Amino acid sequence: MRHIFLIVLAVAFAVSLAASVFTLMQVNKETDELSKKLRERTLLLADGLAESAAPAYARYATSTLEKLANTFTNRERLIGLAFYDTRGNKIAGSSGVTDEMLKNAPILDTFNSTEPDDAFAITEGTRKYYFAQPLHSDDAYIGSLVLVQDASDIDVAMSRIWRDTFLKLFVYFLLFAVAIAALVYFVLFKPLSNLAESIRQARMNKDARAPQPSHHNFFLQPLAMEVSKLASSLAQARTAASEEARMRLEKIDTPWTEERLKEFIKAYLKDRPIYVVSNREPYIHSKDRGEVTYSVPASGMVTALESVMAACGGEWLAHGSGNADKEMVDAESKIRVPPDEPKYTLKRIWLNPKEVKGYYVGFSNEALWPLCHIAHTRPTFRKEDWLMYKRVNGKFAEALLAELKGVERPIVLIQDFHLSLLPRMIKESRPDAQVGLFWHIPWPSAEGFSICPWRKEILQGMLGADIIGFHTQQFCNNFLETVGKEIESLIDLEQFAVTSDEHTSFIKPFPISISFTDAMEGKTSIAPDRAALEAMDIRTEFVGLGVDRLDYTKGILERFRGIEFFLDAHPDFYKRFTFLQVAPPSREESEKYRDYAVAVEAEAARVNAKFRKNGWQPIRFEKRHFSHSELVPLYQTANFCLVTSLHDGMNLVAKEYVAARDDEAGALILSKFTGASRDFNRGALIVNPYSAEEVSEAIHRALVMPATEQHRRMRSMRTSIRDYNVYRWAAEFIKAVAALR
Ligand code: G6P
Repeated sequence: MRHIFLIVLAVAFAVSLAASVFTLMQVNKETDELSKKLRERTLLLADGLAESAAPAYARYATSTLEKLANTFTNRERLIGLAFYDTRGNKIAGSSGVTDEMLKNAPILDTFNSTEPDDAFAITEGTRKYYFAQPLHSDDAYIGSLVLVQDASDIDVAMSRIWRDTFLKLFVYFLLFAVAIAALVYFVLFKPLSNLAESIRQARMNKDARAPQPSHHNFFLQPLAMEVSKLASSLAQARTAASEEARMRLEKIDTPWTEERLKEFIKAYLKDRPIYVVSNREPYIHSKDRGEVTYSVPASGMVTALESVMAACGGEWLAHGSGNADKEMVDAESKIRVPPDEPKYTLKRIWLNPKEVKGYYVGFSNEALWPLCHIAHTRPTFRKEDWLMYKRVNGKFAEALLAELKGVERPIVLIQDFHLSLLPRMIKESRPDAQVGLFWHIPWPSAEGFSICPWRKEILQGMLGADIIGFHTQQFCNNFLETVGKEIESLIDLEQFAVTSDEHTSFIKPFPISISFTDAMEGKTSIAPDRAALEAMDIRTEFVGLGVDRLDYTKGILERFRGIEFFLDAHPDFYKRFTFLQVAPPSREESEKYRDYAVAVEAEAARVNAKFRKNGWQPIRFEKRHFSHSELVPLYQTANFCLVTSLHDGMNLVAKEYVAARDDEAGALILSKFTGASRDFNRGALIVNPYSAEEVSEAIHRALVMPATEQHRRMRSMRTSIRDYNVYRWAAEFIKAVAALR
């Protein structure tokens, strides 16, 4: 509409300009004509008066001249007259003619006064016409007669012309404006917006009808025809794709892909939005020397959920922990992510340092984390941390409930141990919401969990969820046993369901995975490129790789002892083997983590000092975060990947390593205490990380393993992650949540 207004304005301006020029010409012409007439009439009058006044003037009879002047004054337009001598001095005149009035009168030249002279001037507020007539006696110039005529009627005529013209102009303008606005609206604006709407509908697939070319005026018709063809092709492609997807959905043995998950969500949820809630956010914005960058945190939960959200869209609520996070969000604390190719919304929740300390560092990481992982690190239970944990869970609930306002039967997927109280909080306010809680870490035995002072409240909070998911059946069993011990409830062992406070929760295993699909086969480099290793100055014949957050549950100290054992047992590998440990620092606010980082570095230094020889040392310790694209070439070239977690919910590093091995070479050494060891029990070399000897033997086996065995093992593991990738995990979890009433 603003554009139509601008077009009308431009046309109006052009019309006004043309009309003004035309009026100006007309006004000039009219002025000339009226002036000419006035001059002619004045000339006649002046002639007559000069003749009658000449004798008296010759006599210098001033009183006679004055009388004559007064007699003619105020006749028709004549305001008055005055007589001047040859030097330009007034000698007589009408009484009404003032000096002020005469100051613009033309004064005839003493030596050249045969011709009259005239002029227009405005005095005393009105336009006047001055006419100077020379007086002669015996052909000699003896003075002049000046007539002052009223010329205000010329102004009146001019203003009338201007007024009439502008009145006409205004009417024309109105007519033009209406005509142009109608023209632009019906000929351009409306057809173009209809066209745009048809394209949008076709794009959004809202029962799109292709734009009909015949409905458009002749100059938009070619465009409409092209758009119509485009829309039809789009509709055909979409129908084919959805038909294919439908067929794929129905066929159980076809692989899960991002596309299949999207189709599944569309068919299954029918536009019901998905809300994911977690503590850790998928993208962290940080500012360093004035420059804002973003990173993807090292977190198994983020690795898995990010691919799901990128496929399904929806909203992800998480703690905004980056120092530039606030700068990047809108007024509602939201930002579309991934930042380079937005696919879903991230809503950041702000926590103050006290909240982070109590809820995250204290209760989540120093109480729940060691409570759930059997790594022989004692949990620390502080009342003030627990209170802060409850408060922050309430804060997440408040933010989520605000987002859910007006959304019918929303699907809420809560992630992990930071938010165990959230399911009940949500269900109490929104019983229609379908809530799933996925616990990404192990669940201990009932005995183990019983040391927690607030165990009942945690279990009650979790039991607000309709579905509670764990990575393995063992964790489900442990949870059910814990509930049986701690909570008054009805447990159905056949259904794996718990009913308490008239609400039933189903407990199910969903082994999480990564976004590995058939389409990714052969997409990573086929010939492993050692350039990344060489860039780090690692040039030994054999390379082993470890990738872990610096966390005591990851068994990094035990791993180094295994390497020590291996080198002691197999000195022929001296100088031929390097173990690269990538270890991004983690949870450094906590003393236990800081101590652990120091201990790991010291242990690497000890082992290196023991074996160091001619510039070679066995362990290369990289204490920093590596992005996924930095890790892939390392995964692809390492002879083995070593995962020695003392206890781990799943461990996605193991799966990432297998996914990167397009060449089906390499070996995975995997702790029996990871969830992943259930999926890879036929492909990986399974070890007890507490046994340095077992780890050492596995390293040796990996390094001497024949290529055929490597292929067989790797193929079996790749089949496993292809069959049960993160898209299938998400589909099964979402299906379980959404299927319940
Ligand atoms: C585990 C947890 C995740 C967590 C991740 C990293 O994988 O299950 O919830 O995000 O560790 O820990 P952080 O404390 O840095 O988020």
